[in-house]
Amino acid sequence: MKKINLTISFQEYDSIEELNIEDRSLLEYARKAIKSAYAPYSTYHVGAAVLLDNGKIITGNNQENVAYPSGICAERVALFYASSQYPDVPVKSIAISAKARDFNVNTPVTPCGSCRQVMAETENRFQNNLRLIMRGENGKINIIEGVKNILPLMFRAEELKK
Ligand code: THU
Repeated sequence: MKKINLTISFQEYDSIEELNIEDRSLLEYARKAIKSAYAPYSTYHVGAAVLLDNGKIITGNNQENVAYPSGICAERVALFYASSQYPDVPVKSIAISAKARDFNVNTPVTPCGSCRQVMAETENRFQNNLRLIMRGENGKINIIEGVKNILPLMFRAEELKK
């Protein structure tokens, strides 16, 4: 037996002024997208904004359902819409922001497992590193370069060919 340790890394920023203009602007799109979320059950409203390689920005937000599992997160709404409209254009970055009815979201939103898996597929498809820019409603910002830093030991397409 041998023990293997994996290292993941991300950047933490104390204020939005520290971000480059592209990341800051994408986060602003995500923040605006929160307003159209449909989240009457959790009352936790999430916005996501995807920056494509051709400069287009696609936004999405969480869409809930009375049959809870039928709902979908903001990240997947944005990524699937981007893929449906621009199937051949690589995705560069995704920004995420959230606002809750009953409390202040002052720590960065971290995507759920299903969204991480969809992000992994996006990366694999376009063979690039996806950049994740995460914030709550305010407070610190975390930036992750590449899904391997948020989904270590992910299931890869190569596994199907062994
Ligand atoms: N949610 C997202 O849209 N993105 C995340 O990264 C975390 C969770 C949504 C799913 C559900 O509508 C609500 O937030 C509460 O979990």
